[in-house]
Amino acid sequence: MIPSEEINLIRNNANIVDIVSSYINLEPKGKNFFGICPFHDDHNPSMSVSPEKQIYTCFVCGATGNVFSFVQDYENVSFPEAVSIVASKIGYNLQYKAKINKPNKDLYEITDIACKYFINNLNSSLGKNAKKYLKDRELSADIIKDFNIGIATSNNLAKLLLEKGFTEKQIISAGIANMGDNLYDIFQNRITFPINNERGEVAGFSARVYNGEQENKYINSRENLIFKKGNILFNYDKAKSEVNKTKSIIIVEGQFDAIRIYSLGIKNVVATMGTAFTKEHVSLLKKLNAKIILMMDNDEAGEKTTISSGEALVNSGLNVEVIRLSGEKDPDDYIIKNGEEKFKNLLKNPTSFFEFKLNYLKSNKDLNKSKDLASYINSVIDELNKSNDEILRSVTINKLAKDYDLDKEILTKKLIVKTKANEFKPLVKKKTRLTKNQKLCETVIYIMMKDIKYIKKYDRDLGYMPNKDYYQIANDILAFYKLNNGFNIADFISYEVKSPYYETIIRIINDYETLEPCYDEFDDYLSLIKKWIKEEQINKLKIEIDNETDINKRLELNDLLIKLKKESE
Ligand code: UTP
Ligand code: MN
Repeated sequence: MIPSEEINLIRNNANIVDIVSSYINLEPKGKNFFGICPFHDDHNPSMSVSPEKQIYTCFVCGATGNVFSFVQDYENVSFPEAVSIVASKIGYNLQYKAKINKPNKDLYEITDIACKYFINNLNSSLGKNAKKYLKDRELSADIIKDFNIGIATSNNLAKLLLEKGFTEKQIISAGIANMGDNLYDIFQNRITFPINNERGEVAGFSARVYNGEQENKYINSRENLIFKKGNILFNYDKAKSEVNKTKSIIIVEGQFDAIRIYSLGIKNVVATMGTAFTKEHVSLLKKLNAKIILMMDNDEAGEKTTISSGEALVNSGLNVEVIRLSGEKDPDDYIIKNGEEKFKNLLKNPTSFFEFKLNYLKSNKDLNKSKDLASYINSVIDELNKSNDEILRSVTINKLAKDYDLDKEILTKKLIVKTKANEFKPLVKKKTRLTKNQKLCETVIYIMMKDIKYIKKYDRDLGYMPNKDYYQIANDILAFYKLNNGFNIADFISYEVKSPYYETIIRIINDYETLEPCYDEFDDYLSLIKKWIKEEQINKLKIEIDNETDINKRLELNDLLIKLKKESE
């Protein structure tokens, strides 16, 4: 168990905006920050993070809580694990070590050892030729260090791992060794590039030959539980925090291209690993809430990849732009040949994916031939029918009509009329209508949570609410205050995580912020509740009197009623 004082201390020192930003991109808006909610298939920034209250709330799916619940749900870990993760993020030395039951921990241990081992090799006398190769390719010592580049020399990594006590099965499962007559290393005589997962842990390697040409220029870790090319983007771990500043992310096809672009100080770049774009790639990119710039290789395959990945990204609601290189094969070659400045200029002039697609549809067609022209026009209309952008539709139709001397009416008729109903609608939870008295209790509870002065007042002057749920919440606030000798909304939320009133508490925190109740009227609110309590008593008494058959008792009760009525005036 982590002591609760320590949990509160960590929470207090961890700014929720910083911690959430390490997972998703947040943008300031008014008092709060907004980002794409990672807990549902979000298309607009629906998650708000409040630095003042240190909580987050998604207005669409309802996900809500404090810094710990965010990490817990995002990383899919237990509460103590989430506390340890937050502690390490803020550099707090937590004595208690959560038994992190991280899945595939042994595999990560192996890749981590391998990575360090390869780096060591490069820095030893064995690394001389590789160092020369890297120097010839103009990679600086800093960049080599930033990317943990190393070398695999002869067949000795698996052996080392066996000596360290890992089993053959574990070593094979980590994707770095195979079983022949004996266990042998997959990577030999190659420069190694660790491929990190989104959390920055080494998931596997891509390794390049450097002593002359060979059939397989690069080989990668065999796919395994922690390394799947389809859900990894090279440099995503470093790029994601950069995207907060740049609001855009560049996608290239090779890790060398990503490293080259990064070395110019343009760090918002990721590379696919020589595979097709998958829906996992799309969701990784969606989390960044940034504009996408596709910069694939300058060949036919690169063009096809631009189309297929662009479609997948646009369909998921992302804004996609395209930059095509000319002359050189890939961004690395382009930069080496043309220099930094020319490359940076190129970055200033992207084409929208839509425009790129229209040009692509034109290629291989002779628009002077009516058959080709008709097929082109029809494909443009098909594209427009996929889009909801009215302006884009109208601009494109006008342009087509003008460029090819066509009847605008006919073109427009081919467009499918989009109704508002097709648009994405958030599932806003139905608001329950509250009675005047319920609102009164909630206002009192909200004010209590904002200042301990009011908790004390409640305790001294009222201490009761004529509604079971609100009474319980107020009691919990009071108990929390007495336990901690203070009150803080975000800590109170961790305290209430398992309570049946959790949702109500979060709703009160969110609803009343916009209403800004009047603190000065707190005493009046308490008086109103007192009056309400009296009224309830009077009503109860009236029913009792009606049901009472004994005359004497009835008179007694009547006296009591008169007394109560007097009091409540
Ligand atoms: P490229 O062939 O475009 O390599 O492959 P590159 O990025 O230009 O590399 P350099 O400049 O020659 O060093 C692009 C990506 O495809 C994967 C790698 O991930 C590479 O980065 N690939 C390529 C392989 O997995 N195996 C190969 O044999 C080649
Ligand atoms: Mn290259």
